[in-house]
Amino acid sequence: MIPVMLRDVSVCFGAERVLEDINLSIGNHEFVAIIGPNGGGKTTLLNVILGLVKTSGGIVRVFGKPPEEGRKFVGYLPQRPSFDPSFPISVYEVVLMGRYRRWSLRKYTEEDMKAVENALHTVGMIDFKEKSIGILSGGQIQRVLIARALVRSPKLLLLDEPTASIDSEMQIFLYELLRKLREKMTVVIVTHDIGVVSDYVDRIVCLNRRIHYCGPPDLSEIARTYGHPVKLIDHGAHASVK
Ligand SMILES: Nc1ncnc2c1ncn2[C@@H]1O[C@H](COP(=O)(O)OP(=O)(O)OP(=O)(O)O)[C@@H](O)[C@H]1O
Ligand SMILES: [Mg+2]
Repeated sequence: MIPVMLRDVSVCFGAERVLEDINLSIGNHEFVAIIGPNGGGKTTLLNVILGLVKTSGGIVRVFGKPPEEGRKFVGYLPQRPSFDPSFPISVYEVVLMGRYRRWSLRKYTEEDMKAVENALHTVGMIDFKEKSIGILSGGQIQRVLIARALVRSPKLLLLDEPTASIDSEMQIFLYELLRKLREKMTVVIVTHDIGVVSDYVDRIVCLNRRIHYCGPPDLSEIARTYGHPVKLIDHGAHASVK
């Protein structure tokens, strides 16, 4: 089953049309980046895939099912995680929360605990499992939140700007991690790091209400199709289009 299939999807908030004529299919083990200006609809698009936003038209299928059903196969790292970092809770507990199911009063099992350990190993944060989430750096918190998204063994991982406000070394660490993860699942990332992400992804989707470009990470082609210059941060060896 194809992880994501969107056909003629549109979304309106009141009178404002935020997404229009979105046609996009994302295959198994694809690694796709969604880029675009602030307010361009990137987070809204992820919410459509998660079934958290009502569409005004079109068809959405996630692993062949309506998103409310398909999302059980989806791991998600939100743009602004809604937990308070000063809350006295351990790294282990944050990741364990990812195993929680609504409407279920069951206790956590050994399998849950094993999944948490595995996810923390995957993101390189197992040594921090007893630590309070409040003492971690921004990059370490992002790794823990990726572990939380991974703990239910998703087949599709959606990440909304996981590299915002982290340094370039940690960015590369995260992209290398995602490169490994895509061997096991489909990865969709929203990002503004166009230069760096181009080295990792199969496809870039430029979104500004509509999809303006969808194809290989060819920077000059993106700049051309985008309609205005794409300003890229120069990452040394990486190409820069101005
Ligand atoms: N729940 C909502 N109700 C009303 N308007 C909304 C809602 N969510 C988003 N919007 C509006 O939809 C537009 C797209 O927002 P969205 O958050 O999807 O953009 P984005 O591309 O993720 O931006 P950013 O790069 O700043 O995160 C914005 O104009 C925003 O104000
Ligand atoms: Mg957003």
